[in-house]
Amino acid sequence: MKTMEVYDFIIQTIREAGDLLMRERKQRFGVMAKDGDPRNLVTSVDKKVNEFLISAIKDAYPSHDIYSEEGGGVENTGSPLWTIDPIDGTANFSRAIPHFAVCIGVLENGIPTAGGVYNPVTRELFSFQKGIGAFLNDEPVHVSEVMELSKAHVFFHAGRKKEVRDWGGESYRRLLGNVRKTSNFASSSLDACFVASGRIEANIYGTLSTLDIAPTLGILIEAGGVVAGANGGPVTFSKDPQRVYMANNRAILDAVTSLLETDQNN
Ligand code: IPD
Ligand code: CA
Ligand code: CA
Repeated sequence: MKTMEVYDFIIQTIREAGDLLMRERKQRFGVMAKDGDPRNLVTSVDKKVNEFLISAIKDAYPSHDIYSEEGGGVENTGSPLWTIDPIDGTANFSRAIPHFAVCIGVLENGIPTAGGVYNPVTRELFSFQKGIGAFLNDEPVHVSEVMELSKAHVFFHAGRKKEVRDWGGESYRRLLGNVRKTSNFASSSLDACFVASGRIEANIYGTLSTLDIAPTLGILIEAGGVVAGANGGPVTFSKDPQRVYMANNRAILDAVTSLLETDQNN
């Protein structure tokens, strides 16, 4: 697969998806509970953008596999594998909070090779090509140089799941006592791009499905950032939720994993 052609396709298609999303956002749209869970939302716009992306990828790359958070994909050989999250940050989108993104990525042999994360409201398009770089609207981006946790801005979201609540409550308490600032803007993909572009130092999620937002991890790594899972172990690209630490450098990653993993049971 020629990476350059794929990258151009991603940039063009993600912008078109963003335009569609912005048109649909002006109309009345439906907000539904997903999988019977009233705290997990999907909108009619998620579904329209999803249909558009799946059809665009099928037209351009008929032999490739596609995984989408909202379904409708194709699973055969598993490589190349396109990943789609039509709207990451649906809860924000449903309440007119302008922090959400369209995500498209491609993995070859399980490794992200190109992708984009696009906020059509701010028109910020983060993208990457493996081995070439990470970009914000065509300008190269890089992680911040902060090395001390006491100077770090950290986004933290424990997650709703019962099994992470104790870890989450205690972790938040520890962060409050050790970092400069904690917050969370509720779109894991865009939040990770904020680490990639040097706006914050770390982004921590207690439970996160990494496959939906695979391109954002590609952007972060290409921008010089680092990623780890529970106990500082590896992160896998999976639909199954896992704990994910994303940081600007090894010093901050080690500091946050040690702070939040030491003497905790889960
Ligand atoms: C959600 C966002 C959010 C994270 C949730 C995800 P969605 O994705 O990434 O930041 O906390 O775990 O499910 O549902 O809006 O695509
Ligand atoms: Ca989504
Ligand atoms: Ca998502």
